Amino acid sequence: MGMREILRDLVDAGGTGGLNWHVHAFQSQKRWQPTVAHIEHFLVRCQPRHTHLLLMGCSAGWMMPTAWLTQFTQIDAYDIDPLAQRLFNWRHGRALRHSQTQIRHHRQDAMAHLPGLLAKHPQASIWFDNMLGQHRYRIRDEVQVEKDLRALKTTLAGRDWGSVHDLLSGPTLATRAQNLRLQDIRHNIYPRDMDAAFNQSLVQSLHAQGIWFDHLTSHVFADDAPTTLIPWEFKPHYWHWLQAGWVTSY
Ligand SMILES: C[S@@+](CC[C@H](N)C(=O)[O-])C[C@H]1O[C@@H](n2cnc3c(N)ncnc32)[C@H](O)[C@@H]1O
Repeated sequence: MGMREILRDLVDAGGTGGLNWHVHAFQSQKRWQPTVAHIEHFLVRCQPRHTHLLLMGCSAGWMMPTAWLTQFTQIDAYDIDPLAQRLFNWRHGRALRHSQTQIRHHRQDAMAHLPGLLAKHPQASIWFDNMLGQHRYRIRDEVQVEKDLRALKTTLAGRDWGSVHDLLSGPTLATRAQNLRLQDIRHNIYPRDMDAAFNQSLVQSLHAQGIWFDHLTSHVFADDAPTTLIPWEFKPHYWHWLQAGWVTSY
């Protein structure tokens, strides 16, 4: 890898993370707090089957509740971002040492290597930590992206796994002052028959303006899987709808 590629990787880690993401996340902590609380509220109700976790797209764990991580005895964390390991350990390392959770970091593409990772760790739960919505930035072919994301539930069949990911994102008129009645939205269950009209109503609920981006993740979960929708004020006047779900199959 040449110096130019190394620098580009540090700055944007393939367009999905890197220094840009970390600086933005660091500066946005206060604005993201309600979303972090929703994610925590969702996660504490998930009861992973295993004490070993494969954590995909860990980054620095900016939105990850430390307490949830400490229930595991072993975590294998995957990210393509060269800065992820150091920053993740800075944020969560002390608590993980305290809970005697072993953490191993891997700079690896978790999508490309998923079948191999699952085979290598048959007794592990899997959490995709706001990573799947980025697949579209990395693979430019929309048909392929949808196919890959739709196929995940087959690759993961029989496994204990969950994900929080971007569903839709775009510009809005909403500001924190308008407050969006987040507490009312938090328990919404994504309907079985998700359709364009429902997407439209989601977008409108955030006083959308302009063009919204579809992250092509709407078939990550099976249509009858209960999932939770979480709004995220990514930037002022630019919101995301996240979808979170956990699948336990025996
Ligand atoms: C939105 S950020 C994740 C946020 C993170 N969970 C947090 O709380 O800070 C998405 C992360 O997924 C990583 N990522 C995207 N695609 C990936 C892939 N195929 N394999 C591994 N990591 C990936 C990016 O490098 C980035 O760090």
